[in-house]
Amino acid sequence: MAEGFFTEANSAETVICRNGPDADPRLVEVMSALVRHLHAFAKEVHLTQAEWEIGIDFLTRTGQLCGPERQEFILLSDTLGLSMLVDAINNRRPPGATENTVFGPFHVDDAPRRQMGDNVNMDGKGEPCLYEGRVLDLEGNPIAGAVVDVWSDSVDGFYDVQQPGIQPKGNNRGVFTTGADGRYWFTGIKPTSYPIPDDGPVGRMLAGLGRHPYRPAHMHFLVTAPGFQKLVTHTFVGGDTWLESDAVFGVKSSLVAPFERVEGGATLWRSPFDFVLVRA
Ligand code: BEZ
Ligand code: FE
Repeated sequence: MAEGFFTEANSAETVICRNGPDADPRLVEVMSALVRHLHAFAKEVHLTQAEWEIGIDFLTRTGQLCGPERQEFILLSDTLGLSMLVDAINNRRPPGATENTVFGPFHVDDAPRRQMGDNVNMDGKGEPCLYEGRVLDLEGNPIAGAVVDVWSDSVDGFYDVQQPGIQPKGNNRGVFTTGADGRYWFTGIKPTSYPIPDDGPVGRMLAGLGRHPYRPAHMHFLVTAPGFQKLVTHTFVGGDTWLESDAVFGVKSSLVAPFERVEGGATLWRSPFDFVLVRA
């Protein structure tokens, strides 16, 4: 235990020793590890005063951009791989269960409730795609009453919430509930790859690091059912240019879905995918 005045050698322990005896133990555990790693980082890179100032300015601008419509800190976490890591640590699932991926900022709580089979595409733009499959438990039994909440970008690569007044509210989103057979099916569009918002500090960080901001084309799914763990996931379009370099590290091979061309059907594409939930 370090006592007395702060030195370069004892820096982290000196800070940690200040914590009081009545502090919340988990807070002390988390903050102590954070301080240790932060100090070790500064020592490892020999952080200069000028770099420290750039870092403070970066975090300040990141915070200033946050508001109801924009969460630059989550974007920072996403692009540093932290969001996917926290998700992985907290959602270890048995083989056969559908894997989680990043939630993203474009879900809305008041998406239109739709009838099974409805079309979620409201602006008529894009290549129609039939999404269908079942919501199952690990034993392969159908889950009735599962809520399947879906959202995707438009053919131009924007979510409706990014283009109010251009896209109709609720475009390419919908909430469906499965019946006794656990089946879901709806028409949407084949999604488009798009850049994450890159006009802020996170975008500048990516550019500075020689990283692109693109996400491979995907359809978002939030699947919930009473008695089961919440599933936050996407299905990805196989063959997408950005599949192996997703800006937010969200791709898992099990989530790359078939997108099959349909000849002479009501839709141009068909994407079958079953979701397997784990009991809570
Ligand atoms: C998305 O897929 O909607 C998304 C995820 C993380 C950051 C930005 C967008
Ligand atoms: Fe997305």
